[in-house]
Amino acid sequence: MEKLSSVELRKQYLNFFKERGHAVLDSASLIPENDPTVLFTTAGMHPLVPYLMGEKHPLGKRLASVQKCVRTSDIEEVGDATHLTFFEMLGNWSLGDYFKKESIKFSYAFLTEVLKIPKERFVVSVFKGDSDCEKDIESADYWVKEGLKPSQVYFLPKKNNWWGPAGLTGPCGPDTEIFIDTGKEKCSPSCSPACDCGKYIEIWNNVFMQYNKTADGKFVPLENKNVDTGMGLERTVCILNGLKSVYETDLFQDAIALIEARSGKKYGENPDVDKAVRIIADHTRTAVFILGDENNVTPGNVDQGYVIRRLLRRAIRYSGQLGAGTALLTELAALYAEKYENVYSELFKNRERIISEIAKESEKFDRTLAGGLKEFEKVAAVSAGTGVIDGAAAFRLHDTFGFPVEITEELARDRGLTVDREGFGAAFAVHQQKSQAGAEQKFKGGLHDHSEQTTKLHTATHLLQAALRRVLGDTVFQKGSNITAERLRFDFSFDRPMTAEEIAEAERLVNEVIAQKIDVVMEEMTVEEARSGGALGVFESKYGETVKVYTVGNFSKEICGGPHAKNTGELGSFKIEKEQSSSSGVRRIRGTIAE
Ligand code: ALA
Repeated sequence: MEKLSSVELRKQYLNFFKERGHAVLDSASLIPENDPTVLFTTAGMHPLVPYLMGEKHPLGKRLASVQKCVRTSDIEEVGDATHLTFFEMLGNWSLGDYFKKESIKFSYAFLTEVLKIPKERFVVSVFKGDSDCEKDIESADYWVKEGLKPSQVYFLPKKNNWWGPAGLTGPCGPDTEIFIDTGKEKCSPSCSPACDCGKYIEIWNNVFMQYNKTADGKFVPLENKNVDTGMGLERTVCILNGLKSVYETDLFQDAIALIEARSGKKYGENPDVDKAVRIIADHTRTAVFILGDENNVTPGNVDQGYVIRRLLRRAIRYSGQLGAGTALLTELAALYAEKYENVYSELFKNRERIISEIAKESEKFDRTLAGGLKEFEKVAAVSAGTGVIDGAAAFRLHDTFGFPVEITEELARDRGLTVDREGFGAAFAVHQQKSQAGAEQKFKGGLHDHSEQTTKLHTATHLLQAALRRVLGDTVFQKGSNITAERLRFDFSFDRPMTAEEIAEAERLVNEVIAQKIDVVMEEMTVEEARSGGALGVFESKYGETVKVYTVGNFSKEICGGPHAKNTGELGSFKIEKEQSSSSGVRRIRGTIAE
C-alpha cells in the first residue's frame, strides 16, 4: 500500500478524477443551505442535492470534491480509536453520466493502481434486493470482471447496502461498499462486512442514486441515474499507513503533541488518558471547523450553537481531568487553523473570531465547572439508591452550572446511574414557560408602544420568506432575522444580488397577500407533524416536542414562537428598502411597513 499522508491523499484523489473528466469543487459550508431537516453537512453529496435531483450543474456532469462533514450522532462514542465528529469526505459524482460499470472501474483502478492496495486485501458488498429495488447482480459482476473473486463479493440487505437520504427526504439508492480486510480471523463462519468485529473496515461507498425518498416515505425514481461516492479521508490515511487509530495519523499528531505538552501526560500508555486526549483533539477540531465556517455560528442553546457548546464543554471537562487547563483549547484552535490553512482557508481567515469564541465559552464554563462537579457528586450520592438522577437535579446542573444534560448523563454512566430524561424535559419546559411569561411581560411593558408594529413586522417576515422562495426558488432559507419597531431585517441563503425585477416581484407578492386579508392561523403540533406538513424552520431532532406552526393560507407555513398579527390585512403596505450582501452565500433585506 502507498503510505500517503492526508495532503497526498487529497491531491491524488482529486487528480485521479480530474484526469477522468471530473470538475473539482471547493468544499461547501458545513451548514446545509438547502436542507432544513439537518443541522450539518454530513456527506459530500449534501451540497449537491439539487443537482442529484435533476438541476443542471454549471461545471458539468462529472464532479469531485473533498468536503468537510460533521456527524454528531456519535458524540459520546468519541474517545475510542475510530470515532470522529468531524471528518473529510473524498467524493466523485456522475450526474446522469456514467453509472455502475464506470464507477466500479474508477474505484478499482484508484484502489489498486494509485493506493496500491493488493486486490486480495479488500472485499465489497452489494445490494441483496427487496421489494423497493432489485438485487444488484450487475455490480457484483463488474467487481468480478475487474479482478475480485466471487467470494470477495457479499450480498447484503437494505440495512447495510442502501444509502440516504441525507436528511429525511431526498436522493438515495442501493450502494456498493468497499472494505479493507484487516487479515484478522473471521469471528464466526457467518462473519461478513456487515459484522463489526473489526475484521472488515469500510473505506469507500459508491451509491447508485436512482430514487427520491419523499416525505410520505415513498421511493420515486429519479429522472437521472446518478453516482455518489464517499471515502473517509482520516480512515483511509490510517489504513494506508498501517496505523491502529485515526488519531495516530498526521492529521492529529501535532495536536496530540500539544495536549501532551500542556498536560504532562503521555498518549498511548493509559486508556483513560488516551480517551481524554482523543476527545479534546476531536471536539476542539470540530468546534474550530463549525466556528470557522463562513456562516458565522456561535455557541448557544439551540441548533448548531448547542452542538458547539456541547463539544467545547466536553473538551473542557476532559482537559481539566488531564490537568491541562482550558487555555489548551485556544492554543489547539490556533494550531488547527494554521494546519488546515492551505485546504480550508476560512479557518485561518476567521481564526481570531474562532479563538475569541472558544475563550469566551471556556471562561463561562470554567467558572462553574468545579462547582458543578461538586454538585454532581452530591446528586450522585443521593441517587445511588434508586440508580436514577431525577429530572430536577439534572435541570439544576444544566441551569446553574451549564452542564448540557448529555454531560450529566455521561458522568452518571461512569457511576452506573441513569438520568431521568423525561423529568429533565419537564423541568426544562416549566422553566421555559416561566421565562416566556417573563419575556411576554417585558414585551407588554417596555415595548408596549411598539409591540403592534414589531408583531406586524414579524408576520411580514414570514410573508417575505415565502415570497422570496416563490421568486428565487427553494434554495432560499432564513439565515437570520432581526426586528425593531422601525424595520425588519431578514438574512437568507442566496448566492447573487437580486435583480430589480425580482425585488419588485417579491414586494408585490407580499402586498398581494396583505390585500387578500388572510387569517394567520396558529396550530401546535409535534416537530414531526410540522416537518411532514411542509413547515419551514430549523428542525432539531427533538422528537415528540411540540412547536407552534403559523400558517397564512397556502402562502406561508413556518415553525415560530410568535407573536403574530391575526390577519394579514392588519399589516399595511410593505416595502423592501434595501437588498445587499450579508456574508458569503447570504443576502440581507431591510423592509418596512407603512399604514
Ligand atoms: N453519500 C455516501 C456516504 O456518505 C457516499 O457514504
